[in-house]
Amino acid sequence: MSKVVILNHPLIDHKMTKIRDKRTGTKEFRESVSEVGGLITYEITRDLSTRAKTIETPICETTAYELEKQVLIIPILRAGLGMVEGIHNIIPTAKIGHIGLYRNEETLEPHVYYSKFPKDIKDSVILVVDPMLATGGSASKTIDILKMNGACDIRYVGLVGCPEGVARLQKDHPDVSIYLAALDDHLNEKGYIVPGLGDCGDRLFGTK
Ligand code: PRP
Ligand code: URA
Repeated sequence: MSKVVILNHPLIDHKMTKIRDKRTGTKEFRESVSEVGGLITYEITRDLSTRAKTIETPICETTAYELEKQVLIIPILRAGLGMVEGIHNIIPTAKIGHIGLYRNEETLEPHVYYSKFPKDIKDSVILVVDPMLATGGSASKTIDILKMNGACDIRYVGLVGCPEGVARLQKDHPDVSIYLAALDDHLNEKGYIVPGLGDCGDRLFGTK
């Protein structure tokens, strides 16, 4: 069974309040989604392995540490794009792949329309990023595709999840840890998370 971590951090909760509030405009919404992406990533990368390296400071030679594995950020388009800048600020050496999926509004099934990944996917630590874990269909399909391309060290990073999405992802991908800023109550009949934050892609890009 995969690990589920709800961050429960005061700074994240504070920013999530802005993100959830329907009065928050596009600029502040976009900035806050990006910032929370960075804060979550800082917390969940504590266990990344490092390798020792000898360097010279202006004072003397010393042993310092750098990340051992390449990190790949894989945003699920569109809404995952909103988290990328904040995460990339924390891990500037990360490479970025993209996967384009949208949910059919009636069936809620994900449809893939685009994918492009860096070559070294097999040996990398992969962060699949998408603010919303609703039915879990989009995240699960993305991880299917990444695994078909050789990925084996995958973490899911989101803002808001619900029990239905967490259960689906745990069932389909028990090896993938799930990190969320918040776990909400339930999904409504239209597949939206309650209380949630509405349609994240539309709020990020001003499309409604
Ligand atoms: C939203 C969201 C997730 C997906 C989650 O994207 O960004 O990718 O829904 O829902 P699920 O867990 O039920 O699959 P959407 O399909 O609305 O596309 P968009 O980002 O292009 O707006
Ligand atoms: N996608 C969103 O943008 N919001 C939800 O609540 C569910 C899926």
